[in-house]
Amino acid sequence: MQAEKIMNEQDQWLEAGRVEDIPRQGARVVRTPDGDIAVFRTADDEIFALRDKCPHKGGPLSQGIVSDKRVACPLHDWKISLDSGLAVAPDEGCAARFPVKVDNGSILLSLVPDEGCPNS
Ligand code: FES
Repeated sequence: MQAEKIMNEQDQWLEAGRVEDIPRQGARVVRTPDGDIAVFRTADDEIFALRDKCPHKGGPLSQGIVSDKRVACPLHDWKISLDSGLAVAPDEGCAARFPVKVDNGSILLSLVPDEGCPNS
C-alpha cells in the first residue's frame, strides 16, 4: 500500500524542461488538457507555477514581467504573488498554484493544483 502511494506521488510529476530554458524574470507555458500552466523563473532562479490565467480578466500571466516573487499581468498590471497565486491588494482573486520542484536543473511540475483557489 505504501509503495503504491509513493509510485502515485512520483507519477504526478511531469518533466517541464530545464531551469536555464526559462529566461530570468520570464516564463514558459506548459500546455495541458485542463489549461495552460505558466512556469516562472525569478531573478534568483526560483521556480513557480501558476495557471496561465489572470484572476482579473484572464490575461496570460506567462507574458508578464517577474519582479521579486510577483508577476505583473501584461493586460492591466495586476500583480500576482508567485508563491501563493493571490492578487496583491487592493486587487482580489487568485490563480491556481501548481507544485513544482527542481532536480539537478530539471523542472518537475505537478498537474494537480494546490487547493485554495477554486475558481481558476
Ligand atoms: S487581465 Fe490581468 S490585470 Fe486585467
